[in-house]
Amino acid sequence: MKFSLDIVKDYDHKWLVDLHNDPIVLHNITNPKPISLEEHMSWWNNLNFNKDKRFIFKIDNINAGFVKVYSIDYFNKNCILGADLHKDFRGKNLSKHMWKLLLDYVFYELKDIHRAFLTTADYNEPAKKLYKNLGFIEEGRFIESLFRNDKFYDQICMYILKENYINEK
Ligand SMILES: CC(C)(COP(=O)(O)OP(=O)(O)OC[C@H]1O[C@@H](n2cnc3c(N)ncnc32)[C@H](O)[C@@H]1OP(=O)(O)O)[C@@H](O)C(=O)NCCC(=O)NCCS
Repeated sequence: MKFSLDIVKDYDHKWLVDLHNDPIVLHNITNPKPISLEEHMSWWNNLNFNKDKRFIFKIDNINAGFVKVYSIDYFNKNCILGADLHKDFRGKNLSKHMWKLLLDYVFYELKDIHRAFLTTADYNEPAKKLYKNLGFIEEGRFIESLFRNDKFYDQICMYILKENYINEK
């Protein structure tokens, strides 16, 4: 299989909206409200692409996921990461390939990033396992910061330093 990150093309936006509105994706992100294509385009057109990098993850040139690097702080050399895999590709142990491309990009292509951060819902078992396997370390929790199905859940805060990622390779 060939794994790659590709720039977002105009014709990808409808696919991105469908991915975002997937019930499992909505369940796992902070704001569970579905979005329209118009809302998505308005958000996209207002992004500051200096501080915000987004790519399509492709498997054999087919759209399989969406990866994001945002809040890039060039002074303090850190950023926040996230990624969603399309449902057709989940549960097949493919997410590590998406994340390795993302971390390669962050630590070897972006200028001088020292630390990457992410959050995940406490109930997101595949995500927690994936991030731990990649070398992310839990550094705390946003306690009861997610409200789902009438219950509050923690978000787990995780980080990885460039030196840890190099050690993992
Ligand atoms: C998070 C996500 C990228 C993970 O990808 P995935 O295809 O579901 O997971 P994978 O098949 O690659 O498995 C990842 C790891 O989790 C493990 N895993 C999978 N389901 C699990 C479960 N229910 N409980 C515990 N571990 C689980 C796998 O065994 C694997 O670990 P291993 O390599 O040590 O065997 C994907 O589920 C996704 O995009 N979900 C929807 C959106 C989302 O949650 N995004 C992330 C928000 S933080």
